[in-house]
Amino acid sequence: MRSTVFAVLLCLALAAAPQLRAQGCPPPPNIPVGDCAPKAGTAGNFAGDSGPMRLRKSIYVLSPSEIKELRLAFERLRALPNSDPRSWMAQANVHCWYCAGDNSTIGDVHVTWAFMPWHRDYLYMLEKILGSLVNNPQFALPYWDWNTPDTPTCTGHLKVPPPYLGKDVPPPPPGIANSLFDCYRGISTTSTMNVASVGKARVDDILKKANTFALFFGGPNVSAALWPGPHGYVHLWTGDPVTLAAKQDMGVLETAARDPLFWAHHANIDRLWDVWIGMYGTPAYDPTFLAQKWTFWNENQKLITMTGSDAANRTSRLRYAYAAPCSQTAMEAEAAAPRKAPAARTFKIGATSGAHVVVNLEQLTVPADQSAVLRVYIDEPGATAATGADSRLADELFIVPGKTPGSGHGGHQHTFNLKIVLSPELAAEVAAANGKVPITIVPVAATPRGQLTAPAPPNFKVKRSYISVE
Ligand code: C2O
Repeated sequence: MRSTVFAVLLCLALAAAPQLRAQGCPPPPNIPVGDCAPKAGTAGNFAGDSGPMRLRKSIYVLSPSEIKELRLAFERLRALPNSDPRSWMAQANVHCWYCAGDNSTIGDVHVTWAFMPWHRDYLYMLEKILGSLVNNPQFALPYWDWNTPDTPTCTGHLKVPPPYLGKDVPPPPPGIANSLFDCYRGISTTSTMNVASVGKARVDDILKKANTFALFFGGPNVSAALWPGPHGYVHLWTGDPVTLAAKQDMGVLETAARDPLFWAHHANIDRLWDVWIGMYGTPAYDPTFLAQKWTFWNENQKLITMTGSDAANRTSRLRYAYAAPCSQTAMEAEAAAPRKAPAARTFKIGATSGAHVVVNLEQLTVPADQSAVLRVYIDEPGATAATGADSRLADELFIVPGKTPGSGHGGHQHTFNLKIVLSPELAAEVAAANGKVPITIVPVAATPRGQLTAPAPPNFKVKRSYISVE
């Protein structure tokens, strides 16, 4: 309560400074979502980028002049009127439109294999808009590599990258508004993410388990491996690091892209696609995956259709690459030198055998305006919030809501089909029981210290859960 009052006062104070108005902090009521779908226009086809290659670097290694240019680009983006389709709000509304926010009637790109390629195409467009606003065809978005372990000379990966902190660029006064700041954040300079939820071990584990196209990218009705874990945690944590409740901007999909951190966060998710390819090679992309189509506004204010194929052909169609983070992790090293796939173990349940034992959660539904943190336990029916991360914890899910709490608009439910790949140890145990083991889902909340050990009221439903071998 106290922090809410403080946040409101802070937002009011910021709103009083006219140059900060465009930063998303008008007096309450908050900027409404409005009807976020583009109103009109016939989309042309994306011709493929013909500019110079752009190199996306870690936010932690940008030079002062690169940070200055990044701030200038966002400053100019914020200065465009909302009616300009390139503007900060119009671009954020594209995310709202595709997350089934507001009154959108199209499918949610977060619940299917659209997740990876849609965000790649979306980031591409914003990168080109920002680059044109600073007249630099080589301008590239930075990535926030929260999974890079700190080294003595390169630290702070679990905190908000410093350029994004502080409403003014130092030194005030007079202070220039920091265009990378967003007052709708619950985080402070000292807030630190839970390493178990987003650190290297967690990300490596996901990349190692999801070693097939379908398990990593998802399917037409199955979420991508990266959707429910660290990705969701970073969203919820930025909005409210203490409770991980649904809070705009980042903690709610329909407002998330109003926060400049969104783009750095998603550039890291996007980079993990490359790391995955480094580990396993370029997959045989499903033709239906490649044929997916979306519409965006480009730097010339034109509606443009981009595809899954544009995303899958990043180098030739989109013309950018990723520079290695400051401390190369074992994972990045693996990506640089593809390891020999370990002889896959085979598990058998009933008449089916395969290399993966998978927990399937069908139609996991959370109210569209609530977040959920769910722990999935295998063969531990007595698990509670106090159980924590023991050996039977198969996964930790962070569900980001689509809508701002209490907003009346829209009628979508937030529903996912998830596949959770079990570790070889749990897989062997489950196979030995011929798949007949209980699957227990425990909703947890954060304690005031950010530990995920407080019980949460159940706010989810699962239509069917079962174990398969694939
Ligand atoms: Cu489109 Cu991280 O959300």
